[in-house]
Amino acid sequence: MSLDRINTVVGGAEYIDEGARILRAGGLVAFPTETVYGLGADAFNPEAVLNIFKAKGRPQDNPLIVHYASVEDVKGAVSHIPDVAYKLWETFSPGPLTLVLPKSDALPLVTTAGINTVGIRIPNHPVALELIKKSGTGIAAPSANTSGRVSPTLSAHVYEDMQGKIPLILEGGQTDIGIESTVLDLTKDTPIVLRPGAVTIEMLLPVLGKVINHKGEVVVAESPGMKYKHYAPTCPCVGAKSVESALRVYSENPGAVIVGRDSFLSALPNSVTARSLGESPKECMRSVFSLLRELEKDYSYIIIEDFSDKEEYFALYNRLKKTTGGVLV
Ligand code: TXA
Ligand code: MG
Repeated sequence: MSLDRINTVVGGAEYIDEGARILRAGGLVAFPTETVYGLGADAFNPEAVLNIFKAKGRPQDNPLIVHYASVEDVKGAVSHIPDVAYKLWETFSPGPLTLVLPKSDALPLVTTAGINTVGIRIPNHPVALELIKKSGTGIAAPSANTSGRVSPTLSAHVYEDMQGKIPLILEGGQTDIGIESTVLDLTKDTPIVLRPGAVTIEMLLPVLGKVINHKGEVVVAESPGMKYKHYAPTCPCVGAKSVESALRVYSENPGAVIVGRDSFLSALPNSVTARSLGESPKECMRSVFSLLRELEKDYSYIIIEDFSDKEEYFALYNRLKKTTGGVLV
């Protein structure tokens, strides 16, 4: 991008065609979304994307979100779309939710700041959707502020930061939501909220069952457990397939306790808080409910050995499935 100042036009919907033309030609256009204004470039044009980083003064190790107008178009930027992404899009797209997915080879690395995943969002704003459709590509767009300043919720904020640097700011009035989208990473075993936003954990849980919040804590859906209330402790409760997974979740949740047979617990370090169900199916069935009642008073998270593959413990498993809502770690 030339360092010469350019004339910045602020224009309404009648400028969308012009905006699309600028984007196709490798230029930058600021546009409204329902969250904050974005600073867009063709996500597949590395020089154009580089100019976003220059215009914002953004560190080049901070990846950009790629915006699309419809789910079908997303395929160009990602190499794999898990079923859960389609479920989330059904409920939350267009909307303030960005999904991190594995990137496709076609998407330049500069867009994702060198990493092999990409954030994808379908914004819920008519101007943004029209601009993206008409440009015929995915639009890489961070918030349209100078790096380090607050995100713009009015075209005037964008003008303050970007005047002289970009040719066009599309006007869309005050943005509805006012904070940036929720960023949810779907590339890990358990989905992780990297940035909280208007799509909350409570809204995501019915679809995901389990999610790690932005503080790194595992949060489990209450609704499956609620259906079987008399088997459900008052605190979150999950099944653990292995001692290793039990320990991992234990370390992520202060105030947790691990519950299982003596043979399961014997593999745990002494420092871990754990309580035994006994060993035989009979012992375990006898102790399970009273133990859960006791533990829910003293602990904030219960991790129970999974019995799903153990024939002799079928009755116990049948109850525990309701206790954990079927959530396994
Ligand atoms: O609401 C929004 O998300 C706005 C509008 C314009 O869509 N965009 C926005 O972009 O806030 P930006 O660049 O200001 O913030 C994107 C956030 C950053 O924290 C970035 O690190 C993270 O999303 N992010 C983007 N791609 C990622 C990836 N592949 N993996 C992890 N984090 C990613
Ligand atoms: Mg930003």
